[in-house]
Amino acid sequence: MAIAFFNTPFFTLLLFFSLLSLSLSSSIHDLLKSKGLPAGLLPSEVKSFTFYENGRLEVFLNAPCLTKYENRVYFERVVTANLTYGSLIGVEGLQQEELFVWLPVKDIIVDDPSSGLILFDIGLAHKQLSLSLFEDPPHCKPEGGLRNHVRKEKGFFEALR
Ligand SMILES: *[C@@H]1O[C@H](CO)[C@@H](O)[C@H](O)[C@H]1NC(C)=O
Repeated sequence: MAIAFFNTPFFTLLLFFSLLSLSLSSSIHDLLKSKGLPAGLLPSEVKSFTFYENGRLEVFLNAPCLTKYENRVYFERVVTANLTYGSLIGVEGLQQEELFVWLPVKDIIVDDPSSGLILFDIGLAHKQLSLSLFEDPPHCKPEGGLRNHVRKEKGFFEALR
């Protein structure tokens, strides 16, 4: 009986579709890893993404959100970059907090994985961070928008004066 079932066209079809859905569900985090980048560079809240043949990557989140690696990082609802092996170049939609100032992250580069380091180019400075900070996709909390957030912090400093 069982063997007869495995030989049916129905089973073949079932197998085909389960393999197909497996390959379709390949995540943004798998894509990052296949490009020599750590999976945790993007949060687990990524809703969808498009990766074009020319290397352009567009990542969509449900809402802008905040998370933290070494410092706090802000993801806009759409994050784009050119993805090549070991690097995200021309990133847009990603900001990192440095001494209470939010700076856009421009490039993210892993030159030499054996160094255990990842380079963040945040315009004014290059920062080297430990790759281990980015192993697992972090959870990212929705935030009413960066501007609200900055205003809140300003209020905090004004209150200190
Ligand atoms: C990203 O890739 C596109 C298409 O290949 C190119 O036109 C653009 O200049 C690239 N941007 C950066 C910042 O490298």
